[in-house]
Amino acid sequence: MTEPAAAMTSPPQATATSSPAGRCPVDHAGQTAPNGCPVSAGAAAFDPFGDGYQQSPPDYLRWARAQEPTFWSPQLGYWVVTRYSSVKAIFRDHRRFSPAIALEKITPTGPEANAVLAQYGYAMNRTLVNEDEPAHMARRRLLIEPFTPEALAHHEPMVRCLVHQYLDRFIADGRADLVDQMLWEVTLTVALHFLGVPEEDMGRLRQYAIAHTVNTWGRPRPDEQVAVAHAVGNFWQLAGEILAKMRRNPEAPGWMQFGIRLQAQHPEVVTDSYLHSMMMAGIVAAHETTANATANAMKLLLQHPRAWAELCADPALIPGAVEECLRHNGSVAAWRRLATEDVVIDGQAIAAGSKLLIVMASANHDEAMFNDPDLFDIRRDNAGEHLTFGYGAHQCMGKHLARLEMQVFLQAFTQRLPHLTLTEQRFSYVANTSFRGPEHLWVQWDPARNPERSNPQLRQAGQPVQLAPPATLVVPRPLVVRQRRQLSPDVVAL
Ligand code: HEM
Repeated sequence: MTEPAAAMTSPPQATATSSPAGRCPVDHAGQTAPNGCPVSAGAAAFDPFGDGYQQSPPDYLRWARAQEPTFWSPQLGYWVVTRYSSVKAIFRDHRRFSPAIALEKITPTGPEANAVLAQYGYAMNRTLVNEDEPAHMARRRLLIEPFTPEALAHHEPMVRCLVHQYLDRFIADGRADLVDQMLWEVTLTVALHFLGVPEEDMGRLRQYAIAHTVNTWGRPRPDEQVAVAHAVGNFWQLAGEILAKMRRNPEAPGWMQFGIRLQAQHPEVVTDSYLHSMMMAGIVAAHETTANATANAMKLLLQHPRAWAELCADPALIPGAVEECLRHNGSVAAWRRLATEDVVIDGQAIAAGSKLLIVMASANHDEAMFNDPDLFDIRRDNAGEHLTFGYGAHQCMGKHLARLEMQVFLQAFTQRLPHLTLTEQRFSYVANTSFRGPEHLWVQWDPARNPERSNPQLRQAGQPVQLAPPATLVVPRPLVVRQRRQLSPDVVAL
């Protein structure tokens, strides 16, 4: 399917009155957007912290993709962008749509919480993800080498070993919460290895990472804000201590040490403030995203037993299935940009200085881009076009590491626990706009049927991972021949 054209124009000509019919529905809630358009009932009700969005952002925003693809959310104070073409066009144009607000607190905190943060000397600065040009690209170019598939290859044995060790712990139990017993801890350990962080208190880091998510993308009540601020403040101080330890041994392996070594030659690009901020942001970026992505993928696959059975029978389908899981139920649901000039998006006149919530989870279900978008199809040929890793100059630098981990997880589960099923449960999510994955994922199986009981070699098996999927996947589909007719001696009709 070819990519739909973006409904975005510049320079801005549209005014509120020039918005196409249907964009300002009569059924409005008596509020007005900054461009003068009445706010529709759907837009007024939009609540990304409520259960509807948390359970399924693409379902929750189906009405918007169809009727009002870009709308003003009075509750959020943001323009919300839902269609593939516009979300991608915004990612692509990082000058008119600055990433500066990507890590800003979406809920401004009150004076008490601010005082707590100040008490810890909290001074989170720009890293990569929220840095404008030209500073961003200079930094990205310097720091990208450890993220290439070649540089990541040596992490693969460690990831495999960890995944199997954690599986060993509960494989005989017949029941497990994959999030609590495996996913967060394995991905955090891999993240710390990648970053070069020495042994740390894992439980504490997990709590801090969740606090960071709530602080950045959540809507904590004033009383919760103070507790969150203490956790974030402690996280900030711990990041500083870890960095100080690393500086004493800059030759050690790890992405942060790589940055510390580069600082000597490029002090204006790799600043102290960058390193301290990245130490904290990096732990979150590298671990929560991937733990959530794997939990979402396992949930989706076990909800589709036929797809699961196919993966178990043919591990070569795993790389494509990972892309389809990231498309269908990705772990970063939405991201943010700041309009640096007046623009028109999907017919909406949007003034310079406006904030945008661009919802990749909705874009990934846009029927203009993906055929039958709600269908979960592990052979979808353009699944890799999803926007879950963002797009353009800021596209996720860790995408290959995330793919590596997800493929190894799926290989291990399909080989060692093909008889896994989901336990009856209701899924809960940490209420926030962006980082999305179930807090718990209970699964069950009959340990007596574990294949390795009859074939102990299974634990050693594993496919090579595929880190850079082509934009279009070529995965053969099984065909069922219902009828065969001999038309002539040389020609057969099926
Ligand atoms: C499934 C897992 C992951 C998802 C869904 C994800 C998603 C994202 C998204 C949406 C962005 C912003 C892209 C944009 O603005 O265009 C981003 C940026 C980034 N991610 Fe990830 N990420 C994942 C895993 C990781 C891992 C494992 C690491 C590190 C080891 C990482 C490091 C980064 C960095 C450094 C950036 C900033 C890149 C830049 O601005 O130049 N991510 N990621």
